[in-house]
Amino acid sequence: MVTYSYGECLKRSYRVNWRIKDVLGTVGFDLNRPWLPTELSGAGGIRCLDPGEKRKLTHLEMGAYAHLFRFVEAFITPEMLGLAQEARSLNLEAFEALTNFASEEVKHMHLFGEIRRLVDEAVGFPLELLEGENEVAGVVLGRHRGAVLLLTAAIEWFTQHHFLTAMKDSEELDPLTREIFRHHWMEEAQHAQLDHLEAVHLFRELSQAGRDQAIEDLVWLLAAVDGLLQRQVGHDLANLGRYLGRTFTEAERGEIQGHLLKAKRHCFIESGWAHPNFQELFQMVTTPDQQASVGQAVGLLLQGNPVPLGHGVA
Ligand SMILES: [Fe+2]
Ligand SMILES: [Fe+2]
Repeated sequence: MVTYSYGECLKRSYRVNWRIKDVLGTVGFDLNRPWLPTELSGAGGIRCLDPGEKRKLTHLEMGAYAHLFRFVEAFITPEMLGLAQEARSLNLEAFEALTNFASEEVKHMHLFGEIRRLVDEAVGFPLELLEGENEVAGVVLGRHRGAVLLLTAAIEWFTQHHFLTAMKDSEELDPLTREIFRHHWMEEAQHAQLDHLEAVHLFRELSQAGRDQAIEDLVWLLAAVDGLLQRQVGHDLANLGRYLGRTFTEAERGEIQGHLLKAKRHCFIESGWAHPNFQELFQMVTTPDQQASVGQAVGLLLQGNPVPLGHGVA
């Protein structure tokens, strides 16, 4: 049984707190190294690219990977501010920890904005990346708060997994990339724990109908995330053609898109869903039937199949 606490999270957050200039420092990206590790990249299995082209593809994938964090932080920040506001009169420690959480996400959005500029500078052109983060944030926040919290927990737990298992000890990874995600990992560790505390608290108060709605909306949100990943893969392919100065045959396009989408689905859906700390939370707040229905939806998404969505789902 985990024992997270708002007060401990805030204390640890103050201990690790960093400034954007500490992260970006004076070292630039190294074009001779991969920017995304093998475990998170789709480049490795693509047969129509040579090793240099695969390395360049990781530069574009990292640009998209960093941007996707900024994209989700656009809904995580107001979500946490809303929770902080509600906690204010009931639990001062929770109010402080959640307000600080929101403030850290604002900083992360600025960090990832700076990184976008540096990536564009390094590759020599502005990357095509997903747009409309504020509109998407509005749509996400219109779904059940329990669903939004579970999605947020999955995302924040996978930041931990990605850094620890794929970046921390990678000798070949670009050092600036490692520094960026090391700093993000340090602050996200507290966020993931706060998500856990908030989700447990929220689900405890929910009726059965409320829980059912939260689970239905979680499936909808996961399908929406998959839709965003598919759109970004289209941008990745356009970026790759431009970066390499070459065109692709229909078969090559299909091969590249397939590998990129598989890698993104692993990063943004599978590794969060499968994270043991997320699973611990999910099992605490759901019934076996609900666990099976979300598990089935995740399985369908990972195989590239459509997910049947419930009533009231656009
Ligand atoms: Fe963040
Ligand atoms: Fe976060």
